[in-house]
Amino acid sequence: MVRKIGVLTSGGDAPGMNAAIRAVTRIALNNGVEVVGVHNGYRGLLESNFEPMSRSSVSEILDKGGTKLGSARLPEFREEEVQDQCIKNLKREGIDALVVIGGDGSYRGALALTRKGINCIGLPGTIDNDIPGTDLTIGFDTALRTCVENVDKLRDTSSSHHRCSIVEVMGNRCGDLALYTAIACGAEMVITPETGYDELEVLEKLRYLGEAVRKNHAIVIISEKICDVDALAKKVSLKTNFSGRATVLGHIQRGGSPTAQDRMLASRMGEKAVDLLVEGIGGHCVGIIDNQISSIPIQEALERPRKSRKHLYRLFDRLV
Ligand code: F6P
Repeated sequence: MVRKIGVLTSGGDAPGMNAAIRAVTRIALNNGVEVVGVHNGYRGLLESNFEPMSRSSVSEILDKGGTKLGSARLPEFREEEVQDQCIKNLKREGIDALVVIGGDGSYRGALALTRKGINCIGLPGTIDNDIPGTDLTIGFDTALRTCVENVDKLRDTSSSHHRCSIVEVMGNRCGDLALYTAIACGAEMVITPETGYDELEVLEKLRYLGEAVRKNHAIVIISEKICDVDALAKKVSLKTNFSGRATVLGHIQRGGSPTAQDRMLASRMGEKAVDLLVEGIGGHCVGIIDNQISSIPIQEALERPRKSRKHLYRLFDRLV
């Protein structure tokens, strides 16, 4: 029987993490289960940085970006001795189960702890939408809103100056944020790990858009870690009739008040996490598939290939 659960956020923060912490805390307390907040992700487990949570600990955080509990990346968590120390600290605190809100790295940690005797449930908290086993991750919709708002602004100024705006968005080797932004903003080109990158092709397409189609602006959305966008913008100025400008949206994509969709998603997933732990289930991660909340073993999620977005790339091509 579960009497006390911990909750932590790990990896890059994502809007909606607070809504998930709130849901886990309130639903567990309403079920007669005590809740402990763990500060700064797995580091907080290692340092026993624990905070008893009450109903009011999670008041007024539903609409706040970031994470009230703080987050961190702890590569040392892969080491067995570090995991064993965390298990000791959890047991000393009387915590018998844990909700881990984060990305796939955080899921690996949750699986390791479950195998060592502390049931963990993973919730997908990342702006990247790169977690198998769920159609959506907590934070993706808010990050997408930020990207769309900013690209819309860039279009205003680009079309006034016959410019090509090259906009780099995050995604951690997943093209979803770029692809969805490109469709929602009516971009001229999208470049992601899935499309691949060929500089000559990009310049040729922009020459065609500027000279043959006589477009007065062009928006290129590109995933991070693909190329040096400033260098690409300079080449655009040299080799096409657009003047090129690069904008890296950067960490603003991780901030801001979560959208209603992210708050709903986090609340529904938080509820499922508590229900699973109360049922005695561990080593699972929660997802939303066709608007139904479900869970699968973390191991299975980590082995699944990422969902194909072929239909959305096709849609993008048909809209240009
Ligand atoms: O996973 C979220 C994310 O924002 C990625 O999109 C990005 O690659 C990475 O984290 C940036 O990490 P950091 O905040 O450590 O620079």
